Amino acid sequence: SSPVKVALLGCGTVGGEVARILTEQAGELAARAGAPVELVGIAVRRPDKHPELPAELLTADAAALVSSPDVDVVVELIGGIEPTRDWLLTALKSGKSVVTANKALLAEHSAELSQAADASGADLYFEAAVAGAIPLLRPLRESLAGDRITRVMGIVNGTTNFILSAMDSTGAGYAEALDEATRLGYAEADPTADVDGYDAASKAAILASLAFHTRVTAADVHREGIGGVTASDIAAARLLGRTVKLLAICERVTAEDGTESVSARVHPVMIPRAHQLAGVGGAFNAVYVEADAAGELMFYGQGAGGAPTASAVLGDLVAVARNRVGGGRGPRESAHAALPVRPMGQT
Ligand code: NDP
Ligand code: HSE
Repeated sequence: SSPVKVALLGCGTVGGEVARILTEQAGELAARAGAPVELVGIAVRRPDKHPELPAELLTADAAALVSSPDVDVVVELIGGIEPTRDWLLTALKSGKSVVTANKALLAEHSAELSQAADASGADLYFEAAVAGAIPLLRPLRESLAGDRITRVMGIVNGTTNFILSAMDSTGAGYAEALDEATRLGYAEADPTADVDGYDAASKAAILASLAFHTRVTAADVHREGIGGVTASDIAAARLLGRTVKLLAICERVTAEDGTESVSARVHPVMIPRAHQLAGVGGAFNAVYVEADAAGELMFYGQGAGGAPTASAVLGDLVAVARNRVGGGRGPRESAHAALPVRPMGQT
């Protein structure tokens, strides 16, 4: 088959690993995808800072790369809402498939992006946007599509889990642990997105939307970060046989009159040390999904970092390439507006 031509937007912590694996494992990926997956351009902010990348592929003009007729798939690993929203809409409207890890964008604009994809027949995949390497969104979108999910709950931000785990286990200070999480590539470009709970709230919005076939945006999610969690809070939790974790909790809520709605919230929780979530350390994530027929499922693995996130991106890229080669399509947006979302603050 003819090559699937890929434009990579962003080549930092995650994009750098995607480019490395795409190059080093080109033969294996081609065999799995059914066609060569060819990197035809890489957009970065400062091309001169990337001597490790082939100069002929580099550009600072992401908009031109997205519009190139020589591109089939756009992999977006820059982050932020504008101008990425504009670039991805341009790509999808012209029938180019998109793979993105950009939870901030999806939590605001997934409706618009999904509609653009549906209208042109392009694919929109975003497994890496929530819980790094852990296959979680595809199970929610596909494997559990025949079940009725009642709750999705867990640790979805690696940076804050790294900080809380370090404070709990080694007594490290908050600032020191945040610096280390940044150095390891876990934190967002602006780490207040992590520590103030915005990143987890974006992920909760994506999880709730997929799990409950409705539309939840980050603004619908009640949000508290870990800024107020002190060393003495953690010591007090320890005395009580507990530890502090930042949890995202998305639930189907049934009122007394039988009407259903969705609630989503992010906040620190003191959990018993015997609970499985208490043992989730470092930048690992763990998410429980409860569904009527399946019962309880637990998803666990590396939730942040270049290589783990690249694994999810490349899985999506192989899926898109297979669809292109075989004439298939990725999962469509489910029928929406089924459940209302409870106003922020009501739990
Ligand atoms: P980085 O900051 O490491 O990389 C960002 C890349 O985008 C850099 O290569 C940068 O160029 C490039 N860039 C920035 N602005 C522009 C622009 N205007 N035009 C072209 N290129 C631009 O980010 P990450 O790799 O950590 O994150 C990327 C995305 O993945 C974000 O959406 C993030 O939320 C998401 N994500 C990150 C995870 C992680 O663990 N790091 C995990 C899951 C998702 P230059 O190199 O020249 O500066
Ligand atoms: N900053 C994010 C985190 C990256 O720490 O979880 C993974 O989405």
